[in-house]
Amino acid sequence: MSGRHRVAVLISGRGSNMAALIEAAQAPDYPAEIVLVLSNRRDAAGLARAAAAGVRTAVVDHRAFTTRETFEAAIEAELIEAGAELICLAGFMRLLSAGFTERWAGRILNIHPALLPAFPGLHTHERALAAGVKLHGATVHFVTPALDAGPIVAQAAVPVRDDDDPDALAARVLAVENRLYPEALRLVASGRARVAGGVVRISGPPLPEPETAAK
Ligand code: GRF
Repeated sequence: MSGRHRVAVLISGRGSNMAALIEAAQAPDYPAEIVLVLSNRRDAAGLARAAAAGVRTAVVDHRAFTTRETFEAAIEAELIEAGAELICLAGFMRLLSAGFTERWAGRILNIHPALLPAFPGLHTHERALAAGVKLHGATVHFVTPALDAGPIVAQAAVPVRDDDDPDALAARVLAVENRLYPEALRLVASGRARVAGGVVRISGPPLPEPETAAK
């Protein structure tokens, strides 16, 4: 991909990653622009943040649909109307069908609060603490029909401390998520990140050293 790509961000709640993407995309040299923030929940706090930043918003309430397919068709109608070329899932708490993810293959990203393939699914911080891992973190990956299993674009790690509880660990991870997602979207939208043989290869100048933030 080249030029400035039109991105829709799908949320269900707070929207800190969405806000980080909007802020990054305000730089004129950023290769993507955020053209739509869509939530399945009308009460998602991120909607007000998006509107305050001048970004178009939409609500598609899953409860108004009897099937996943009709819910997704309504989402796709909004995506098409906004001219979205790429989708960033950012705390979007609905499972998407295989048909949807296959139609958007290579054009849909998600951020997951763990170092995949460790801890796919929910409650990642609790599970990381229970497993006693010493490094935890976040992953941005392409979305495929298999949950949290698509090709990995970028990761950032944080230390796990002995006195962490899930909230403290979540806050440390979220801080790196908010830096990671804009960098990962930059790689994809600029065409530097490409899927080959089921994994992502990054072309061009070397990336900065991986973050193992003790920040
Ligand atoms: C983040 O932890 C993200 O990794 C997960 O959901 C959370 C969303 O947070 N998928 P926010 O709404 O972006 O603040």
